[in-house]
Amino acid sequence: MGLMGKTAIVTGGAMGLGKAFAKRLAADGANIVIADLRNAEDAAAEIGAPGGRAIGVATDITREEDVALLTEAAMRAFGRIDILVNNAAYFARTKEGRFEDIGLDEWQRMLNVNIIGTYLCCRAAVPHMKQQGGGRIIVVSSGTAIKGAAGHIHYATSKAGLIGFTRSLARELGKDGITVNAVAPGLTLSDGVIARGVTSAQQLESQRKSRAIPRDEHPEDLVGAVSFLASGDSAFMTGQTLVVDGGSVMV
Ligand SMILES: NC(=O)c1ccc[n+]([C@@H]2O[C@H](COP(=O)([O-])OP(=O)(O)OC[C@H]3O[C@@H](n4cnc5c(N)ncnc54)[C@H](O)[C@@H]3O)[C@@H](O)[C@H]2O)c1
Repeated sequence: MGLMGKTAIVTGGAMGLGKAFAKRLAADGANIVIADLRNAEDAAAEIGAPGGRAIGVATDITREEDVALLTEAAMRAFGRIDILVNNAAYFARTKEGRFEDIGLDEWQRMLNVNIIGTYLCCRAAVPHMKQQGGGRIIVVSSGTAIKGAAGHIHYATSKAGLIGFTRSLARELGKDGITVNAVAPGLTLSDGVIARGVTSAQQLESQRKSRAIPRDEHPEDLVGAVSFLASGDSAFMTGQTLVVDGGSVMV
């Protein structure tokens, strides 16, 4: 309950990793605002918030007006925004293919959701954090940003861009008591990954073999890192990328 009285916005929190992050921050005591294209309210009702309340706000993070309504709803409900988890992404539904076969539309969609959407959410939340004298921004990147990902170049590029975004924003906001850190998961068996059959048995086996801890990764493996980065314990850490993938990437 270390986050009692704090408010956390989790984008893409209606399913998958985002839902697991929202559940954990709720268990830590925070009020929760789930922002997602669909099912945000249902997810909020399901998660609840033992230390406060959870609400859901239908949001497309690429739309400025939606993001403005999101932060307004958070402020109206809870009067503050302390934690922003930028988890929503164009990920499980992406088209994979060779570098030369991924079209411009697909590239633009990827960068629009993963980078511009994250920028818009930060831009809307930061003034509230500054006014309160601090905050925690967490960006969900990916191990693919470090390892590279054949067949998924636009996705890996977007997630690598987010590491530069994290470092730059950390340098701008440190003086305001706002930390900005990234988490880089390995291939994780989220709802989206399972439902859309994104991975073959062969891919999973090769992931397991690449890890120092040779097993599959689950959303619950990531929640401790997000809880830490949202807490006071990480107050003097900013601009960093925590890789949580069982020791596949080592930095
Ligand atoms: N699962 C993995 O293997 C893995 C690995 C590395 C990084 N990640 C990252 O973790 C995060 C979550 O992954 P996941 O597997 O749960 O993904 P997912 O695709 O299953 O879920 C993404 C969520 O984001 C929401 N979303 C998508 N576009 C949105 C938009 N424009 N506005 C608001 N919400 C939007 C979706 O509705 C969904 O709820 C993503 O940032 C992803 O890139 C996932």
